[in-house]
Amino acid sequence: HESMNNQVQEIAADCDQLPERFIRKEDEEYSNITNVGESCPTKIPVIDVSLLASSHSELDKLKSAVTTWGCFQAINHGIEGSFLDKVREVSKLFFNLSAQEKKKYLREEDSLEGYGNDMVLSDHQTLDWTDRLYLTVLPQDQQKLQFWPQNPTNFREVVDEYCTKIELMNEAILKALARSLNLEENCFLDQYGTTSSMMARFNYYPPCSWPDKVLGVKPHSDGSAVTFLLQDKEVEGLQVLKDGQWFGVPIVPDALTINVGEQIEIMSNGIFKSPIHRVLVNSKNQRITLALFCMPQTEKDVGPVDGLITDDTPRLYKNVTFSVDFYFKNYQQGMRSIDACKI
Ligand code: SIN
Ligand code: FE2
Repeated sequence: HESMNNQVQEIAADCDQLPERFIRKEDEEYSNITNVGESCPTKIPVIDVSLLASSHSELDKLKSAVTTWGCFQAINHGIEGSFLDKVREVSKLFFNLSAQEKKKYLREEDSLEGYGNDMVLSDHQTLDWTDRLYLTVLPQDQQKLQFWPQNPTNFREVVDEYCTKIELMNEAILKALARSLNLEENCFLDQYGTTSSMMARFNYYPPCSWPDKVLGVKPHSDGSAVTFLLQDKEVEGLQVLKDGQWFGVPIVPDALTINVGEQIEIMSNGIFKSPIHRVLVNSKNQRITLALFCMPQTEKDVGPVDGLITDDTPRLYKNVTFSVDFYFKNYQQGMRSIDACKI
């Protein structure tokens, strides 16, 4: 397959004309939306995670952030900045390996896991200006080690440690979200089943000589329950859609950008919003990020929690099983999975 042999990183390094298949198409891009540009003051809420267990006002702030934006910047979350730097470092060392070395980890044509660029699902699909390394991290016995970089040698150790920390934070966030709605604190977590799952996606956005003609990632909402994004330390690019406008997500030192996926929107019967977001690229700098997708046990179905279905707020979503297949089938048809779950 052509795209399997040409990672975006290689195309970027050696092209004097933008390949057609990366050129973004207006109809895929919510073209009625005003781009607010870089000058827009940052409005993405900042939440102090260390206060969520004790402070009602911080809990209210969280509720308001997730019902309006669907995302927030988490600070004081307990993961040292120096450790976040270590995670960034192993990601960067991997993407900086030679093309040949990285190709040892190439994903197979029709599966997500491994290194590569977009999965091509249709002929007229516009490709994202990004290369990815996609790994199942939890449950640990499901890790496909043939896709895990051997180089840098501490890659697996650092990523495993990071994911263990994020799993704990995920529990704390889910409990706080439940309490913010005056629900029993385990009501979202209970839907995770006995073994929650987690996928990691390392994203590499090469600089692009035609930054206005491509997107790093097309507009989408996440199919996860909760996504934890470790942003690049210097280079911005993520934008979130709110009230018909794109807002840049700034870099807040040592913060994690947390956004609610479609599964929590469903479990909360639509109270919490899974935001549509996209990624812009630039002509000068590469950008590396790591998204961790926290999800219920594979094959477990999710639905609105009982306490949120009332006469005034009827059930909005069916119970559904959120498999990767389900998510991508909808994505291929230009649909948000959550729309396929509406009653
Ligand atoms: C994504 O949410 O799909 C990627 C986010 C990012 O790399 O900033
Ligand atoms: Fe995303």
